[in-house]
Amino acid sequence: MRSPAAEEHSTVTLTVNGDRITAAVPASRTLLELLRYDLALTGTKQGCDSGECGACTVLVDGQPVLACLTLAAATEGRRVDTVESLARGGTLHRLQVAFVEHGATQCGFCTPGMLMSAAALLTRVARPDRAQVRAALSGNLCRCTGYTKIIDAVVAAGAGEHEE
Ligand code: FES
Ligand code: FES
Repeated sequence: MRSPAAEEHSTVTLTVNGDRITAAVPASRTLLELLRYDLALTGTKQGCDSGECGACTVLVDGQPVLACLTLAAATEGRRVDTVESLARGGTLHRLQVAFVEHGATQCGFCTPGMLMSAAALLTRVARPDRAQVRAALSGNLCRCTGYTKIIDAVVAAGAGEHEE
């Protein structure tokens, strides 16, 4: 059995939510563990921890990735954005406003991952239709809402009904 104490560490430098950080991480440390346990950015959720639920979705260089399947060491020199980056100066992102207004969150566990997948979509497609939203969120599971209100919220945010 591998002893964590004996595991080799490497130094990784990346930009997280605009801040440059350097950390010594074991080779097996995932980006999700780095964010939640080393940087205390607990908005990113640890659901299945095996690439199935999307709760851990963050953006790496603007692309949605599953932080539970990404090694921290692989993010050397990359830009990582988490759900904590969305609100600015106490003002919610238009997606967050739309989620609130459309009742798109219940327990909220899936919400950070949904928001990050949706944020990536809106940078690619300014006014996505329902099919485009569904496709973009296909890797994000929600056990509560039935998805309709989440899709409503993302379409509304894209349509500019909720400005930042
Ligand atoms: S926690 Fe990463 S996909 Fe479920
Ligand atoms: S709101 Fe509970 S899992 Fe989506």
